[in-house]
Order: sequence, then structure tokens, then C-alpha cells
Amino acid sequence: MKNEKIQAPKGVREYLPPESRAFEWVRSQLIAPAKNSGYQLMELPVFEDTNLFSRGVGESTDVVSKEMYTFEDRGGRSITLRPEGTAGVMRAVIESNLDRGQLPVKVWYSGQFFRAERPQAGRYRQFYQVGIEAIGIDDPALDAEVIAIADQGFRNLGLKNYRLEITSLGDLPSRSAHKVDLQKFIATLDLDEATRERAALNPLRLFDDKRPEMIEKMSKAPLLLDYLTEYSRNHFDSVKRYLDALNISYVVNPRMVRGLDYYTGTTFEFVHQDLGAQSGIGGGGRYDGLMEVLGGQPLSGIGFGLGVDRALLAAIAEGTLPIDDFSSDLFIIPLGESSKAYVLSMAASIRSQGFSVEIAFGDRSLKGAMKGADKSGARYVLVIGDNEIGAASVELKRMSDGDVISVKMSELNTVLGA
Ligand code: HAM
Repeated sequence: MKNEKIQAPKGVREYLPPESRAFEWVRSQLIAPAKNSGYQLMELPVFEDTNLFSRGVGESTDVVSKEMYTFEDRGGRSITLRPEGTAGVMRAVIESNLDRGQLPVKVWYSGQFFRAERPQAGRYRQFYQVGIEAIGIDDPALDAEVIAIADQGFRNLGLKNYRLEITSLGDLPSRSAHKVDLQKFIATLDLDEATRERAALNPLRLFDDKRPEMIEKMSKAPLLLDYLTEYSRNHFDSVKRYLDALNISYVVNPRMVRGLDYYTGTTFEFVHQDLGAQSGIGGGGRYDGLMEVLGGQPLSGIGFGLGVDRALLAAIAEGTLPIDDFSSDLFIIPLGESSKAYVLSMAASIRSQGFSVEIAFGDRSLKGAMKGADKSGARYVLVIGDNEIGAASVELKRMSDGDVISVKMSELNTVLGA
């Protein structure tokens, strides 16, 4: 019986060559500004105790109530594949007492996250994020810096067609005062059972309901921004002032609801204009109560998660991928067995100068090897046979126009570097 081919699970996003080069580039560009700003890597497990997310992210969220990959492990423990990164970072910070040292604790992370959503373009069940968290200091200047780091990541990709939306969810007194009026307002609405249940868990969730009749119903709802205490208002005003000083433009969106329940104070989202329904390329905010809810001290924190898959789609949509950067500088074809040893060490020596070099392996014909060189996208090709071994100059083929140039071995680096 013939073995059937096995397919990847539905909705997972994977990156294979040659696309993976673009993915790797996008991820590194998004991370670079965080590394430049003193954030350090945190590598965390992709699975955690389920309680971490139900308590940290919140039972009222779709993420926890509908989208978690939860299973029992062999020891009977309830385990969940991480749907997001902040709760895990907080768990690790508390567990290893990092919050007892220098504050803020500043970390970055990147990796796979899992949400059992309905797959569509830009929405996957396994997707990739890079994120940062700055824990332990509540300073509006830090909020502005965190937002600026995310913005710089997108600028590194050459993106232009996106906007930054910000709002403030205020401190506890702001939210309590607003909640009273919001609940009174919601009580006047004619709602189905499921929506009423959601509202009971977290009334703010109704602002996130995309059904046109709900958007209409909520259009007159009281807005949290109008209930900010003086402290929260000053905090938010300072964040905006710092963003202005940084020349980062933003729109205030008082109806923004993030999909996770831990947010307080400054919250933000980056929305790309060319991506259709899945337009959120990144988002984040401050979370005052999260550490305490997870058994730690009452310290505030702020961070973001950027969607690497969507950032890549945005870079493709805007045509900003630097295709040339993904190819090797030189492709060397050894002619015959006798030149292989020479070519291996020649390639090693050129690589040590900082160039990327590929070699044609196997005993293919020159024509076949040239095809391989062409496909690789390398900028130059060199054919090394017995005559070229130890020669003072070589014939270098420039692949962009097919020109062959005679180059002295001593000047090869200069030509490749040009
Ligand atoms: P989030 O808004 O849920 O925030 O996710 C951040 C980004 O991940 C989104 O803006 C989007 O680009 C991407 N993303 C989310 N779900 C999917 C999906 N199913 N497929 C593809 N991309 C997706 C968080 O996760 C927070 N932990 C961010 C944060 C860090 N807040 C504070 N610190």
C-alpha cells in the first residue's frame, strides 16, 4: 500500500526557502530597535499552565474563551500553547525575581504563538510575533519610547501606509466610574443572550463587536476617555506630548478595544491600510494589574507584540522587500574533481572577508551548474577549472547583465564589495 502524504495542520503559517529569507529579514528589522534600546532576549516555553492565560489574559476574551489550544499532559496537568507573550514574560519575571533587581526589566522575545481562529489571509493558527516588555516603571516617557521602538521597526521595513492609533484605558478609578455608566447604558440595549453574557464579564468588549447593528447600538455609549481621572489624563497627555516631540503621528481612537483584558492606561495599535480585514500589524499597551494577578508585586508594565506574518505581507504590499539583500555575492562552480579542494578553501577565504559565497556541488554539467547559479540569484559567478587554480586573475560573470570581467585575485574583494 502506498503511504499517503501528510499535510501541515490547517491554518499554520510556515516559511520555506526562498520566502523564508524575507521572513528572516522582516523579523530582524522589527527586533533591531529593541536591541538598540537595551532590551534583552527572553526565550520562553511555548506551552504554559493554562491558568496563566485564563487569569492573566482574561476569561472574557475570545483568545481565552474560544481560541486556546489546551490539552492535558501525561501528568494530568492542563497545558496551553501560548496565545500571546506578555503573560509568560510576567510569569518568568516573577518566578526568577527579576523584578527585585534593576527596574524596568526590559526584555524582547520572538517566536510562534497559537490561536484557534478561523484561518484567512493574515490570520493563522500558528503565527509569529516579536515583542518587548518593560516592567516595573510607570513613566509616560517610557510609554512613548515603547511606541517609538515599534514604529521604528515598521520604518525599518520601509513601511509608510500605516497609522498608529492610541487611547488610554485609565487607572482603576477611571475605569470604575466609566463602568457604572457603561453598564447603565448597556442595560437599555436590546441584546442577545451571548452578548449580554460577554458584557457581564467585561462591558468594554461590546465596543469590539463588529456587527453593524452593534456598532450602531454602541455609537452613543459613554467613552472611557471622558472618565479619566486627573492622574490618568495627565499621564495620557504626557504620552501624546512625547510622541509629538518624537515626530510620531497618531490618531486617538477612544473606541479601541484590545483583544486581551490586562490593559490599563496607554494602549495602542498599528493598522496597515493595504491588508484588508487583518490590518493590525502590531499592538500593545500598559498593564497595571497583571503582575499582581499572577502572584507578584503590584508593578506596572508596558509592551507590544508585532505580527511578523502581517508585517511581511505589508512589506510585500508596499514593495519594500530589498530582494538583492537575500542573494549571495558569489557562486563558484568547480570544474572537475581536481578543483573542488581549491574552491572549498577559496570560498572559505572570501566568506571570511564578509561576503556570502555558494558553491555548486555534485558533478553536474557546466550548463546545469550555471542554471543553479542563475536560480540562486547570486550577483557574480566564477568557474574554476585546472587553468584557474593559482591563476593571478579570474573571469567573473556579472549576472545582472551577463558581462564577463577579468579580475585580479587580489582585487576580487573590491569588485564584490562594489
Ligand atoms: P495582540 O494584539 O493580540 O497583542 O497581537 C499582536 C499582533 O500579533 C497583532 O497586531 C497581529 O499583528 C498579530 N496577530 C495576532 N493574532 C494573529 C493571528 N491569528 N495571525 C496572524 N497574526 C496575528 C498581544 O499579543 C500582546 N501580547 C501584545 C502586548 C505585549 N501587549 C503588551 N505587551
